[in-house]
Amino acid sequence: MLIIDGKKVSLDLKNELKASVESCQAITGKLPGLTVIIVGHDPASQVYVRNKAKTCKEIGMISTVIEMAADTTEKHLIDTIHELNNDPAVHGILVQQPLPKQIDEFAVTLAIDPSKDVDGFHPENLGRLVMGHLDKCFVSCTPYGILELLGRYNIETRGKHCVVVGRSNIVGKPMANLMLQKLDATNCTVTICHSATKNIPFYTQQADILIAAIGKAGFITADMVKPGAVVIDVGINRIEDASTKSGYRLVGDVDFDAVSAVASAMTPVPGGVGPMTIAMLLKNTLQSFQRINGL
Ligand SMILES: NC(=O)c1ccc[n+]([C@@H]2O[C@H](COP(=O)([O-])OP(=O)(O)OC[C@H]3O[C@@H](n4cnc5c(N)ncnc54)[C@H](OP(=O)(O)O)[C@@H]3O)[C@@H](O)[C@H]2O)c1
Repeated sequence: MLIIDGKKVSLDLKNELKASVESCQAITGKLPGLTVIIVGHDPASQVYVRNKAKTCKEIGMISTVIEMAADTTEKHLIDTIHELNNDPAVHGILVQQPLPKQIDEFAVTLAIDPSKDVDGFHPENLGRLVMGHLDKCFVSCTPYGILELLGRYNIETRGKHCVVVGRSNIVGKPMANLMLQKLDATNCTVTICHSATKNIPFYTQQADILIAAIGKAGFITADMVKPGAVVIDVGINRIEDASTKSGYRLVGDVDFDAVSAVASAMTPVPGGVGPMTIAMLLKNTLQSFQRINGL
């Protein structure tokens, strides 16, 4: 069974991005800039934002973090986004989710200029993805990272049956739409399962490529997987584990040990899809810089 090593691929990708940032600077005298806005003090969000900023700096991009109080108004947040939309030094804008309840997340997504929406959440970017205009849009970072992994491991996709479990706007829906596109790296027959799907194993057992984005530890068991399938585990779930210092450990949506006896290739958790997400965010930011500067 082949382990699809997202940690290694993300390191390779970050080295490639670093080299591209250097050559962009040599040509334009400027650097790509990513601005992340965080509202409130959610500990998990703070870790994510710190990691994004650290990785950004590692590859030579300018990272700016704007911290706002938990009682920030929607108007203040949107006014700040409009300023960033007009700032030529900012090539990527990301608003860390979740947002406090007084702020409408969709209104915030709509406020970001689609040409700087490096998260790929704006309906214009999602719409372009659905319509196959991938060269002119930003693809949501987690699905984009999975595509990159499949490509780098030469996983054949054309005509394969890809089953995506989960239909969130940030993972399941863009993932399924990406695999449906008529491209060399995709071109799958796609099925989407969700919480109202009857008999999920009936579908997953037919998957050549099975993508689990559910948020439930060990949901995908060995009997749900077709022998030889490629299994991509997006889930990040904390489970209690008294043997660790922290008292918990991270597991995916797939029962890794049992499914690894059936699958031909799998992503582990941690070290699979997770590290790719930040790398693709930076790839999108570089792409934004290149488009804005006509490179
Ligand atoms: N590796 C990464 O970088 C990364 C990035 C993003 C998310 N994640 C992880 O990926 C997982 C999914 O994230 P998300 O943001 O997509 O979550 P989400 O918004 O909660 O969506 C979960 C999806 O799973 C479906 N689902 C829930 N229970 C189900 C069940 N019993 N049977 C079938 N489908 C079920 C839901 O169906 P309904 O639509 O019917 O409710 C929903 O579509 C989470 O563990 C998250 O932490 C990882």
